[in-house]
Amino acid sequence: MIIAVDGPAASGKGTIARRIARELDFAYLDTGLLYRGVGVMVLDRGGNPEDPEAATRAAESFDPALMADPRLRGDEAAVAASKVAAIPGVRAAMLEFQRSFGRTPPDGRKGAVLDGRDIGTAIFPDADVKLFITAAVEVRAERRHKELLERGSPSIYARVLQDMQERDQRDRSRSTAPMAIAPDAVVIDTSALDVEAAFQAAMDPIRKKQ
Ligand code: C5P
Repeated sequence: MIIAVDGPAASGKGTIARRIARELDFAYLDTGLLYRGVGVMVLDRGGNPEDPEAATRAAESFDPALMADPRLRGDEAAVAASKVAAIPGVRAAMLEFQRSFGRTPPDGRKGAVLDGRDIGTAIFPDADVKLFITAAVEVRAERRHKELLERGSPSIYARVLQDMQERDQRDRSRSTAPMAIAPDAVVIDTSALDVEAAFQAAMDPIRKKQ
């Protein structure tokens, strides 16, 4: 069984996807880490994440072990990720890894939950369940702002909001696999939901398929 969880940054999709995987004992893949990893590889090599050749070369030599690097969680990695993610050669290089993870989940698990932007539209258009998790951009920016302050990182709300709007815009408008709601996706708006309510809303269509 393959469960696709798509949506913009700080929508709650990662939290929901991880909980679904735990609940069902499925494998979980945060596909944002793939693009973050490629972005960081390009930066480490002194390249420009918007340069298609540099980014594609990095993607083609991508080592999944890099996904454990804590630097991938930072905002620098997020911005570089959204730039390399717009390059078709990068997406092509990441496609097979994601498909094989879903088709043959590690550790003999019976299913996989993948979260990202294009899982239900491009990676697994025939996923068993597709969820699109969203929330108002102001709510998402507030969540990220709080998270940064809690981590002890300096943060200015207006700046976080602007970065998020720019990233959303890049993700929605790119020509290859833009972030979009699959026609058969269940949309969950978490603006006014707590984690538990959002998780229950996500489990509803999954239980119907089991
Ligand atoms: O989800 P996360 O914030 O880690 O993703 C970072 C960036 O990677 C996104 O802004 C998006 O540009 C890109 N991404 C993507 N497709 C995915 C997952 C992430 O294009 N499936």
